[in-house]
Amino acid sequence: MSALSNSTSSTADRYATSMIAHQLPTERQRLHLLGQMLDPDTFRILEQRGIQPSWACLELGAGTGSIARWLAGYCPHGHVVATDSDTCFLSELSAPNLQVLRHDVVTEDFPAGSFDLIHARWLLANLPEREEVLAKAVTWLVPGGWLVIEDPDRTPLDASPHPILRRFGDAVEQLVAESHGADLRWARRRLPAALAEVGLVELGISVSVKTVGDGGADDAAYRMTMAQARPGLVDRGLLSEAEYEAGMALLDEPAVIDAPFANIIAWGRRPPR
Ligand SMILES: C[S@@+](CC[C@H](N)C(=O)[O-])C[C@H]1O[C@@H](n2cnc3c(N)ncnc32)[C@H](O)[C@@H]1O
Repeated sequence: MSALSNSTSSTADRYATSMIAHQLPTERQRLHLLGQMLDPDTFRILEQRGIQPSWACLELGAGTGSIARWLAGYCPHGHVVATDSDTCFLSELSAPNLQVLRHDVVTEDFPAGSFDLIHARWLLANLPEREEVLAKAVTWLVPGGWLVIEDPDRTPLDASPHPILRRFGDAVEQLVAESHGADLRWARRRLPAALAEVGLVELGISVSVKTVGDGGADDAAYRMTMAQARPGLVDRGLLSEAEYEAGMALLDEPAVIDAPFANIIAWGRRPPR
């Protein structure tokens, strides 16, 4: 499978210097925690698409590759392409039907009609060109193929009873918007409508609200994300050191459990011929 390139972009460079860059010492572990929080829902929704052993699948922005590895096991007579603009966390990913490809989804392409299933998790929210990428990805599907998009939604925190946690939500939203053009409300605002606009049918959506303060998988992922964000938040004056400490201390109080974000999974199918 060869990818077609048409230009270079600074989007991947901006991501690579953000608070979620691969180069940060805790990012691999943070993505691992993200997988523990999100993989069960992802697997369930992908299984419901009726994956066949012969399918060709594309995992965009594969991160540490947990979904690509799972898909490769599910499609022993097909193949899986796992892409990322930085493939350093994918070096140990290996299976006869699995290809790891360094590929910038903003500037590069695939031949039309290449895949039965395309999945991207927590990628599009991080790309300012997210809707252009959607339109392009649809062309990579075979007729009848599925596109499954997952992204975070920070709107649950708007209704938090804890002002300091609402401040955390606003501060992180601003930090990632300024650093690499992320939009943590795009999924809530535009899914599944954006999938309909690029011609997909049989649309669906699944929303799961994540919790913090209860010591579970969501809590671990949130705390590590906030720890990674701390220097950026404080350096840019989005939170003071005292506010940061107060917010994190609040999460340790037994009576405090909050819902800092949701995971939105939306899917649609390219019309069969
Ligand atoms: C928040 S991580 C999510 C990783 C993985 N999808 C998961 O859910 O665990 C976003 C991933 O997208 C990759 N990425 C960022 N910009 C990209 C681009 N322009 N093209 C391809 N991948 C990109 C990052 O390197 C990172 O691995």
